[in-house]
Amino acid sequence: MTTERNEIYDGLALKAMEMRAFSYVPYSGFAVGAALLARDGRIFTGCNIENKSFSPTICAERTAIFKAVTEGCREFSAIAICGAPAGEEPSDYCPPCGVCRQVMTEFCDDSFRILLVRGPGDYRVYGLDELMPLSFELI
Ligand code: THU
Repeated sequence: MTTERNEIYDGLALKAMEMRAFSYVPYSGFAVGAALLARDGRIFTGCNIENKSFSPTICAERTAIFKAVTEGCREFSAIAICGAPAGEEPSDYCPPCGVCRQVMTEFCDDSFRILLVRGPGDYRVYGLDELMPLSFELI
């Protein structure tokens, strides 16, 4: 974990916070927003989208990553994530689930940064290598 901070990360964190407003979470009531920074400077946003059949539910992080891939973008430098009960301000940092970490390893290298956002300017920065060591690889 680092306390790395810059204006781009500050903006990315705010976008992740804003995206929680779009979460569709009638079953868990837990709203997650994500903002993905591409190497070319583009930002792709995501929110979690649930389903009455539960398993089709998609996390905010994967929504953002898959949106980017569908736009022809596959090179990323950072993602900001903010999660908390819908309608509430986050009281803690919300780490990404294992499935999303695995998806990150598909498109991002060890220099990829994961920002866990609790509030404006209040985030912790992790390397993907820290959060997903020994990820699955085809051998
Ligand atoms: N969720 C995310 O959006 N990202 C994660 O990394 C973990 C969980 C969502 C899925 C579900 O809609 C809700 O949070 C509760 O699990």
